[in-house]
Amino acid sequence: MDKKVTVVGAGHVGATAAQRLAEKELCDVVLVDIIEGVPQGKALDLTEAAPIEKHDAHLTGANAYEETAGSDIVIITAGIPRKPGMSRDDLISTNAGIMKNVTEQVVKHSPGSILIIVSNPLDAMCHVAFDTSGFPKERVMGMAGVLDSARFRAFIAMELNVSVENTHAFVLGGHGDTMVPLPRYSTVAGIPITELMTEDRIEALVERTRNGGAEIVGLLKTGSAYYAPASAAVEMAESILKDKKKILPCAAYLQGEYGLQDLFIGVPVKLGSGGIEDIVEIRLSEAEQAALNKSAAAVQELKEVLKKLKA
Ligand code: NAI
Ligand code: 2OP
Repeated sequence: MDKKVTVVGAGHVGATAAQRLAEKELCDVVLVDIIEGVPQGKALDLTEAAPIEKHDAHLTGANAYEETAGSDIVIITAGIPRKPGMSRDDLISTNAGIMKNVTEQVVKHSPGSILIIVSNPLDAMCHVAFDTSGFPKERVMGMAGVLDSARFRAFIAMELNVSVENTHAFVLGGHGDTMVPLPRYSTVAGIPITELMTEDRIEALVERTRNGGAEIVGLLKTGSAYYAPASAAVEMAESILKDKKKILPCAAYLQGEYGLQDLFIGVPVKLGSGGIEDIVEIRLSEAEQAALNKSAAAVQELKEVLKKLKA
């Protein structure tokens, strides 16, 4: 393949993302993990599936970064996932250390890459990767909104018994309890769901979306979701690799957009070969803007925690 993507963290999300990237024949994939044998074993297992899945993507596993040199995109999933009773924010001190270390290695070997951050707490980890990499803001982004919107879309399709392909949804804000699903901008075949469901039902779906991550953690008990998160990260990577210029909700570094300053938070962006090529400012009602501001305040608190960890 003429494109190369490194996935750091060969755990549940990372290995599933590698599988999807290869099976879609988007790129060659390098899987990196600190556990000896695991990235190599998973890469080999996926390689042995290739004749059946009919793809020619090359997969390599590694514990160091030499193999990752010259990657177009690096998806970072390294870190610990949450267990029942833990919030995403409980992961901050462990994962901030991992994110800093990983980013330093990535930058050394792929200085021109685009970073897609997945590790939690997502918005805070974007700040760590951004600060550590020194990359321009267009080349550092976080995956959360695509996942949260996909969950909302799945629940809308279930509720109305329609194809998921007919659904579209936007969930903005931080990847946490304060995320901001936008029913007015969520549609079925172009029709806003506010025309198709009662307020009570919409509120129920919004609440289920907000708790989407916790619902899966509660069921799995030993970790968090990975199929949908991997799909979401790969949708972002595909838009960049193919320069599709899809508008997707992603964590982006805001400098005045939506009235927010120096903060990573989920907003609609245009993703193309340059990374974030545009931040799309949609008109928000007073209540929607207030919800986004509340979510931004939660991310700001995490930024403060990061500052204390550094000190
Ligand atoms: P996992 O535990 O299955 O995999 C994490 C992997 O990272 C492990 O294999 C571990 O050995 C590896 N790792 C740890 N330190 C490393 C280092 N310094 N260098 C390289 N690899 C290292 O966890 P899972 O389920 O894959 O989740 C990964 C992260 O993604 C978690 O922080 C989780 O909370 C987050 N996540 C975020 C989502 C989002 O919407 N942004 C959705 C789902 C998960
Ligand atoms: C999720 O939303 C844990 O952030 C992860 O599933």
